[in-house]
Amino acid sequence: MTIQRGDRIPSVPIKLVGTGDTVDTTSDAVLGTGRVVFFAVPGAFTPTCDTSHLPGFVANIAKFRALGVDKIVCGAVNDHHVTKAWAERSEALGKVEFISDAHGNLAEALGLVKQFGDLGKRFARFAMIIENGVVRDLFVQDVAGVTVSGAPAILMALQTSQVSA
Ligand code: BEZ
Repeated sequence: MTIQRGDRIPSVPIKLVGTGDTVDTTSDAVLGTGRVVFFAVPGAFTPTCDTSHLPGFVANIAKFRALGVDKIVCGAVNDHHVTKAWAERSEALGKVEFISDAHGNLAEALGLVKQFGDLGKRFARFAMIIENGVVRDLFVQDVAGVTVSGAPAILMALQTSQVSA
């Protein structure tokens, strides 16, 4: 079952990739405090994720902060070495933190797993707004490209919805 508005983020072991050493932690430890935008991609370095989805959040970090977002986290079903390499190459570290969900356990727990041909089971493309560990809004990208789950749409949601600062 897919996680819904009002549900609490589950606790699943993940690796957190950031500016320092990669650490073993849990999804609720990373996502459970403050106002968090969590978006997930089918794959590090895959074309749309690499040229559109992640860059939109990196480029708009100041706008998210101005709207009271404490952190932006990107999830990917990739091992932490690949995830770190992508984060570094994208100049995202220090702006976006990354969850390496190598075996897709968090994707499964959220009910946001999708089969992508030869790539296998990955995160469905989505973005959610989380406040103190509770999902306040969820935008699943059901059509190709990046629209409802992209940074401009999430900024709009933060500006117009009850979760605005
Ligand atoms: C992408 O363009 O990001 C993508 C392509 C194929 C599978 C998954 C993602």
